[in-house]
Amino acid sequence: MLRLARPLCVQTVKASKLSRLWSRPAALMSTLLIHHPQYAWLQDLGLREDNEGVFNGSWGGRGEVITTYCPANNEPIARVRQASMKDYEETIGKAKKAWNIWADIPAPKRGEIVRKIGDALREKIQLLGRLVSLEMGKILVEGIGEVQEYVDVCDYAAGLSRMIGGPTLPSERPGHALMEQWNPLGLVGIITAFNFPVAVFGWNNAIALITGNVCLWKGAPTTSLVSIAVTKIIAKVLEDNLLPGAICSLTCGGADMGKNLLHELRRFPKGLSTAHRTAMARDERVNLLSFTGSTQVGKQVALMVQERFGKSLLELGGNNAIIAFEDADLSLVLPSALFAAVGTAGQRCTTVRRLFLHESIHDEVVDRLKNAYSQIRVGNPWDPNILYGPLHTKQAVSMFVQAVEEAKKEGGTVVYGGKVMDHPGNYVEPTIVTGLVHDAPIVHKETFAPILYVFKFKNEEEVFEWNNEVKQGLSSSIFTKDLGRIFRWLGPKGSDCGIVNVNIPTSGAEIGGAFGGEKHTGGGRESGSDAWKQYMRRSTCTINYSTALPLAQGIKFQ
Ligand code: UN1
Repeated sequence: MLRLARPLCVQTVKASKLSRLWSRPAALMSTLLIHHPQYAWLQDLGLREDNEGVFNGSWGGRGEVITTYCPANNEPIARVRQASMKDYEETIGKAKKAWNIWADIPAPKRGEIVRKIGDALREKIQLLGRLVSLEMGKILVEGIGEVQEYVDVCDYAAGLSRMIGGPTLPSERPGHALMEQWNPLGLVGIITAFNFPVAVFGWNNAIALITGNVCLWKGAPTTSLVSIAVTKIIAKVLEDNLLPGAICSLTCGGADMGKNLLHELRRFPKGLSTAHRTAMARDERVNLLSFTGSTQVGKQVALMVQERFGKSLLELGGNNAIIAFEDADLSLVLPSALFAAVGTAGQRCTTVRRLFLHESIHDEVVDRLKNAYSQIRVGNPWDPNILYGPLHTKQAVSMFVQAVEEAKKEGGTVVYGGKVMDHPGNYVEPTIVTGLVHDAPIVHKETFAPILYVFKFKNEEEVFEWNNEVKQGLSSSIFTKDLGRIFRWLGPKGSDCGIVNVNIPTSGAEIGGAFGGEKHTGGGRESGSDAWKQYMRRSTCTINYSTALPLAQGIKFQ
């Protein structure tokens, strides 16, 4: 009998039930989903058949029109007109102007605006969560959960707005004060990924605002409706408080960014939105560029920003491990591994990719995990009973197929799943692979899909080393009751990741801590703790309030 923790209990779904969970009206086949009465609620978020993808105080957009699709059935939802280069230029200009007003507002008053943004999000949390589910493809509780992260970080930022500041330090000179002053950077560019289309923007936005910055957001093109719906909520709060809307600007996608950027398109042939990204990375007026995405693209962004001595904040790939020792409580290990591997269909940067099991518990855990996998309810992600939805795109499905093939070639055995599901939408089977060596090439590569590689280990020393041997350094967890081992894990020879957990999954971090990772994960920290410092510049100020001029280090210059 499975001993899954209560909230994660899953029921068996018979194959015959699956088709019912997936069923959809035939009328949906050809028209935009937004036209269908079943999706009329999209209009309560201010969305229409054609949506303007630029906001800088007023709505507009003169770039290419794109359509976004629902990953659960690949039906078109609605259209978005993206930003042109002209829109981008205009928006930067308006955001810079808005900064002149925003920077003069005392931080606690800025905090009050952020608190109101949090309240406005609270009112729409169910609807926004449902939109995330429809456009990104994650299950409803996770869609609502990431709006909750934004709400939480707004509360956190409102409190922080009364607490940020620097110390006054003892000066070695009589009649002198030595202190730190923190000032806003100016304009913060925020580029977010499809997998957390609300929360990651929220972490950046709330903290950037209370620290006195204005924001320019470019979300993933495939989740443009989420970006627009969120910006509409913020825009109303700014308008109600007689503030310039450009404080929170939005430029969606950006395929048509002007001829002068065509050479960039050739350099980054993967997607048209690269031109937009390049424009932000190269732009001296973007004082901080926060980028969430792959390590490969993040490196290009970081180099472009560095070339102009700009600041970047990077949240890149992860390759996270769970380690379960011989003394682990399996009633914690099982649901943790299940949630961390299968949650969000394996598309979190914190998803567990590598599961290291002590040789004494390996076979039992693999058996019980397979059993748990077989009971996951699969279907339309917005159905509240469903635990597992589709991958975001068809490309992700191809990447999944390639990775499974590669894993087999490298000696792995697929003990669960491994196939694309025969249903509309981008569904793949959650997959478990055993028998690979810990450093097989496929294991060291992050595949953004629900594939879990499981390994046997013998002792702490080797498994801590295996945890750290990958290039990425985001999240990691051990399961043990041994106090000494816990502190060794947290210490200098333990995990080298930014997130180091004990007896909980690798994913699902709270907003109160600093979120981010080391090495190829990029080194950035967002959200809680002192992550606010990344959105400000520090001045060291020495003030002489005496009538003498003593020099530091006792120097006499006379
Ligand atoms: C991401 O996957 O980019 O810890 C962010 C978590 C979430 C955030 C994930 N709070 O899994």
